[in-house]
Amino acid sequence: MEEVRTERKGGSPVPSRILASNEVRARSFGSSGEFMQARELHVRLAKVSKAYDSHVVLADIDLEVRPGEFVVIVGRSGSGKSTLLNLIAGLDFPSSGEIQLLGQSLTELTEEQRAKLRCHSLGFVFQFFNLIPTLTVAENIRLPMALNGIAKNEAKSRTNTLLHDLAMAECGQRFPEELSGGEQQRIAIARAMAHRPAVVLADEPTGNLDLETARDVLELLDQTCRGQGTTLIMATHSREVIGLADRVLTIRDSHLQEAER
Ligand SMILES: Nc1ncnc2c1ncn2[C@@H]1O[C@H](COP(=O)(O)OP(=O)(O)O)[C@@H](O)[C@H]1O
Ligand SMILES: [Mg+2]
Repeated sequence: MEEVRTERKGGSPVPSRILASNEVRARSFGSSGEFMQARELHVRLAKVSKAYDSHVVLADIDLEVRPGEFVVIVGRSGSGKSTLLNLIAGLDFPSSGEIQLLGQSLTELTEEQRAKLRCHSLGFVFQFFNLIPTLTVAENIRLPMALNGIAKNEAKSRTNTLLHDLAMAECGQRFPEELSGGEQQRIAIARAMAHRPAVVLADEPTGNLDLETARDVLELLDQTCRGQGTTLIMATHSREVIGLADRVLTIRDSHLQEAER
């Protein structure tokens, strides 16, 4: 086993443990004592396959993501990146195999329990920002906190801090359509992080931004997740992100493998 520390701009060093794949398997599938270690994983996929009718999109995927890791998924368009993120979010179901989120088997939960787990423990960042157009910027950021029962005063204070940190303190009462794409994505990141989820899933978050704005957004997402110790799983085409990530995985021919960096 090898312990490495990853240092990034503006963030504190975060330990990331790299295990040989057979060691991971032994730790995850071993005796009950070792099972506790599997429960400490934030995301775990074991032999997951997903097919739509006879079209196999993902085959035999094993993936283990530790708390605080930043994992990037690359692959050509249509390779199954969004499908993989949707499976991890419990928004879609595998054809076979098991998926655990924060130690809980997604297929064993009821729809209501899955929705609660998603609401409490996940944050999402999308390519097209998906802010609610009829809500102000501040209301968009407060929404996941309201859904998680965070008191109004606390939610207001977190929103103000986030807007201030984003250098967007003046924008709270504006509406999303009044902002640029980069600004909307910064707000979407604030919304994804405000309730302090354990895991953030980002699906091509820079796909709709110019290069320079994309770089800023990636740094913001990286630093915010590092700062809060949040696990980040991102699907992207962006080469910029590869240097920031702890691990880069590729989906090729339905299989997930370590990418060359
Ligand atoms: N709901 C669905 N029904 C049928 N096929 C789907 C569905 N969702 C995705 N697919 C197919 O699965 C493949 C992977 O899609 P996707 O995960 O969106 O790829 P990516 O995000 O890498 O571009 C594509 O061939 C797509 O057409
Ligand atoms: Mg996609």
